[in-house]
Amino acid sequence: MSDFSIVEAQGIRKVFPNMSAPVLDGVSLTVDSGDIVALMGPSGSGKSTLMNILGCLDGPSDGSYSLGGKDVSTLSSRERAWVRLHYIGFVFQSFHLISDHTVLENVTLPLYYAGVDRHEREARAVELIERVGLGHRLNHRPAQLSGGEKQRVAIARAVSGAPRVLLADEPTGALDTKTGNAVMELLLEIHEARALTLIIVTHDPEVAEFCHRKVFLRDGKIVPRGGRHAANA
Ligand SMILES: Nc1ncnc2c1ncn2[C@@H]1O[C@H](COP(=O)(O)OP(=O)(O)OP(=O)(O)O)[C@@H](O)[C@H]1O
Ligand SMILES: [Mg+2]
Repeated sequence: MSDFSIVEAQGIRKVFPNMSAPVLDGVSLTVDSGDIVALMGPSGSGKSTLMNILGCLDGPSDGSYSLGGKDVSTLSSRERAWVRLHYIGFVFQSFHLISDHTVLENVTLPLYYAGVDRHEREARAVELIERVGLGHRLNHRPAQLSGGEKQRVAIARAVSGAPRVLLADEPTGALDTKTGNAVMELLLEIHEARALTLIIVTHDPEVAEFCHRKVFLRDGKIVPRGGRHAANA
């Protein structure tokens, strides 16, 4: 693990139109490069909203956010897309694979957007698909895969662009315990092999045990475990 902060969020607020209370109300979070953080908290506490901001899918209403030392809190949506392509991988509870694409096509897609030529993107994608144990499923479509297999494809896709930060929003939420643990082990192996920073939203204490550090959100604020008051993060 290295000791520089890759994620530095300060006083993040998020207010959605037509909502009186902010969904995130002054969240400050610093994550060191190579760290593994579990983000926990009740349903509706703002975990996915925070992940979307950390992953540059959305911008904060207020506060500052720097990623890899670059201020990304005020970027346009087009600039955020560029940052996502080069810095971020995302894994979702419901996989978000493209249903009419094969496994190989799903994993090569981010490389296509990143402008990698066809030969190289296929070679890189095949290597990753083999890495996640699905070399025999290259031409399958998502509907032909089990939940655990889909998530392994989603993980291969998420890391195909060699991101610095991998954000996983309840990656085991749709899986049984055994499959979920296998997916966690895969995430940890990839973390180790690629020196990634990993932030994982989970409700599952077993999954959180895999992580170096736990951060709790409640009502849009970071709190000490189970507590009601904002803490320094
Ligand atoms: N685009 C949006 N517009 C309006 N409100 C939103 C939007 N996205 C989220 N919210 C609201 O923000 C609050 C937090 O939602 P969020 O999805 O971040 O919670 P969560 O902690 O991820 O919950 P869960 O554990 O159920 O996934 C909820 O009350 C939700 O309704
Ligand atoms: Mg959520």
